[in-house]
Amino acid sequence: MPGGPWPLTADRDADGVLTLGGVRVTDLARDHGTPLWVVDEHDLRERCRRYLAGFPGAEVTYASKAWPTVGVLQLVDEEGLWIDVASGGELHSALVAGVAPERIILHGNNKSEVELDQALEAGVGRIVVDSFVELERLERLAAARDTTAAVWLRITPGIDAHTHEYVRTGHDDAKFGFTLSLGLADDALAAALPLEHVAVVGIHAHIGSQIFGTDPFIANAEVTLDLLARWRDEHGIVLSELNLGGGMGIRYTHEDHPVEVARYGKAVLEAVEERCAAIDYPRPTVFVEPGRAIVGPSTVTLYRVGTIKPLPGLTTWVSVDGGMSDNIRPALYDAEHEVALANRRSDAEPRAVTVVGKHCESGDLVREHAPLPGDLAIDDLLVVAATGAYTEAMASNYNRLPRPAAVLVRDGTVRELIRRETYDDLVRRDVPVR
Ligand SMILES: Cc1ncc(COP(=O)(O)O)c(C=O)c1O
Repeated sequence: MPGGPWPLTADRDADGVLTLGGVRVTDLARDHGTPLWVVDEHDLRERCRRYLAGFPGAEVTYASKAWPTVGVLQLVDEEGLWIDVASGGELHSALVAGVAPERIILHGNNKSEVELDQALEAGVGRIVVDSFVELERLERLAAARDTTAAVWLRITPGIDAHTHEYVRTGHDDAKFGFTLSLGLADDALAAALPLEHVAVVGIHAHIGSQIFGTDPFIANAEVTLDLLARWRDEHGIVLSELNLGGGMGIRYTHEDHPVEVARYGKAVLEAVEERCAAIDYPRPTVFVEPGRAIVGPSTVTLYRVGTIKPLPGLTTWVSVDGGMSDNIRPALYDAEHEVALANRRSDAEPRAVTVVGKHCESGDLVREHAPLPGDLAIDDLLVVAATGAYTEAMASNYNRLPRPAAVLVRDGTVRELIRRETYDDLVRRDVPVR
């Protein structure tokens, strides 16, 4: 069990029970129920530290969309990462978590006036401008508050990262940012420079998510630095901040082989160094914005096996007590997560089964063709790897399933991060009509 896509403290005790942070998952299931998100605190903090060590001299920002729960934000904040938010709700969560506003970055391709004003009122550190109308709005709102907004222009650099089409963002025909090849980035700078209450201090370019190699990130650094150099030559301005986004992939299964953060950081920072030397540009402060790589690997989901339906010559369907409402990734991206038996050891011959959720959808998959022990039985516990990113954040109440609890485990102790939803929570916002 240790290694692979599992959290750093994952182990088996003498009875073969999976332990995380020194806590038996059978105890967690008994005390907190299932489905349950279990966060390995050591793992989460260690990922933050590896990013900071892997990008010396750069600033590391946690893309909170991956998991914007207050407790998670506090842990990441304690480790010294900035926090990026992509909506008023994420901004509110970061402020409630006690993150210093000047270390918060606001993103979004369609920020409302209310959200922009909320960010100005809070005094966030940077606002990433995504459209022309936003420049005009920010100028007006910042003037009304007698302040100046420090902004990055979001550039769409024309880099096609080879990843799922739903998580590609850097190609020309994207909904995000100012498309470089169409001249929109130049137009954005020209529109921003005369503004009195908007100060362009850098640029931002995020090319996508779950990317495995370093080449697209290096290309991103080169394209954006060339743009900065051209703007210096054409406008006489030297922008000092360069945000290269997030997007490094993580291991969901043993077959995934992302680049270690140390190698990724070295490759990107060396590319920046070399390009700056080649174009004679003062090295900007580099920002990176990992989300998935910070919270994804730290967390597993515990499910209890319900029905098992073996169809002779066809599929054996194993149903668990959650599914697409707590992890939409398999349905949305055909994502695969490794699954293992968690509550005991088994020497039974593995057989391929399809693990599914309890929702009224055939797409409600947990994992197709999972090799699980042939004696898998009702009430066994299954554990699903790397479920910290874009799972709770995208969770729903489909079929009116209450959303799971999340717990933080460390050195044999357990703390609740999110309480389990109740049936009363489910109807709290409903307005009866009689
Ligand atoms: C602007 C921006 N930055 C950072 C991220 C984080 O990406 P990842 O979780 O793949 O690191 C995203 C994800 O979509 C994003 O849109």
